[in-house]
Amino acid sequence: MPSMPPEPFRIKMVEPLKKTMRAEREKFLSQAGYNLFQVRAEDVYIDLLTDSGTSAMSNHQWAALMHGDESYAGARSFYHLKNVIDDIFGFRHFVPTHQGRAAENILAGLLVKPGDSIPNNSHFDTTGANIRAAGGNPVDLVISEAHDPELRHPFKGNMDVQKLEQFIQETDVDHIPFGMITVTNNAGGGQPVSMENIKAVAEVYRRHSIPFFIDACRYAENAYFIQQREDGYSDRSIKSIAQEMFSLADGCTMSAKKDGLVNIGGLLCTNDAVLFERIKQALILREGFPTYGGLAGRDLEALAVGLGEAIDAEYLAYRIAQTAYLGDGLRSVGVPIVEPPGGHAVYIDAGAFLPQIPLDEFPGQALAIEIYLQGGIRAVELGSVAFAYVDAHTGVTIHPPLELVRLAIPRRVYTQSHLDFVIETLKEIVARKDLLRGVRIVEQPELLRHFTAEFALI
Ligand code: F0G
Repeated sequence: MPSMPPEPFRIKMVEPLKKTMRAEREKFLSQAGYNLFQVRAEDVYIDLLTDSGTSAMSNHQWAALMHGDESYAGARSFYHLKNVIDDIFGFRHFVPTHQGRAAENILAGLLVKPGDSIPNNSHFDTTGANIRAAGGNPVDLVISEAHDPELRHPFKGNMDVQKLEQFIQETDVDHIPFGMITVTNNAGGGQPVSMENIKAVAEVYRRHSIPFFIDACRYAENAYFIQQREDGYSDRSIKSIAQEMFSLADGCTMSAKKDGLVNIGGLLCTNDAVLFERIKQALILREGFPTYGGLAGRDLEALAVGLGEAIDAEYLAYRIAQTAYLGDGLRSVGVPIVEPPGGHAVYIDAGAFLPQIPLDEFPGQALAIEIYLQGGIRAVELGSVAFAYVDAHTGVTIHPPLELVRLAIPRRVYTQSHLDFVIETLKEIVARKDLLRGVRIVEQPELLRHFTAEFALI
């Protein structure tokens, strides 16, 4: 038996990759201020920066592009997409947006008032930032098991239902305009949420008359984990599990750049006809007419096909096995990861891996730099560079609970031998990890510093 199912596709078009020498990579990185976001993609050998918008489209999707109807209003392509969304998501109303954060921006802009709070298992950074931009407060209520990287839990993305209930009791419900849950929980290791948990969370929100929105970026991967791990779901199709998940909510935001298998696109869905009228007005101002939103007709066609392909059981079995394969490989060469591996990415516990580097010398960033220097592989730091902040009252720097480096796997893009190369590269780093040193920040912007800050090696 192979340890991983073979790719359920063959390759018809190839995009050459450029291999570089370590000395060249040293030059590229120093020119980029040791910030991997500033490195040119063509100087990267294997790009695991994100799984967002980086999927390979199928022959059916490329063919669908040619059917794009670019009419301003009422395009045929909108109705193709609507048929698929009615079938899988089942919400009464939806608009396309150019990506997930545009849907979040419209929802938060319409519903969040200064002083409001929005609970979630873990908000992704754009979701939290859009809520803050409207004067609100994003509140993360994931189960405490999520903060222990070594602990194996089948649904480590679950929300703590008791904490949620308590939070609502302590907060005036008038200041909770909606509640969310993110599937899978990207900010918490790409970990899934169980149907039982979604049901319990939906029940709490409903009892308090709080509208419930799912952040659905990776809903198909989440549905696959439910089918594989949750009692009573092994005989159910991925689509019927997804339909059940969405039937519990009042709406969703979605970055279609993940489980829509497209390079650009998003969705905002709701059952609320009054809210939908307001969404359409906001959409016309910021994105476009409601039947195309932020997208071209051809993008709508590619998404209509991609949504169907992403719930294919054979594709998902391959996809999730690929992530597990990378996780197993890294563990076997001595790299500590967030256990168990999640849906779209493997998260390295850089704090545990490089204990000699203090948090204020950014072990995660140091590791991401070394992974690029060693193998030309691009990962993303999700630790003190991305999330640490200075407490306004005490002036003390507060570090995030985990210092992580994420290796996100683009969908249908890299093969098992690419992953073997990643594992080999980390194995070489393990052998001399005690020699690695930290970094210091030379220049940084006020907000979202991880994208543009400049570093120097210590
Ligand atoms: N919600 C989640 C859970 C996400 O992971 C993302 C994007 C968004 C919302 C925003 O969607 O990028 O289409 O505007 N995550 C990407 C990542 C960027 O690398 O994890 P977007």
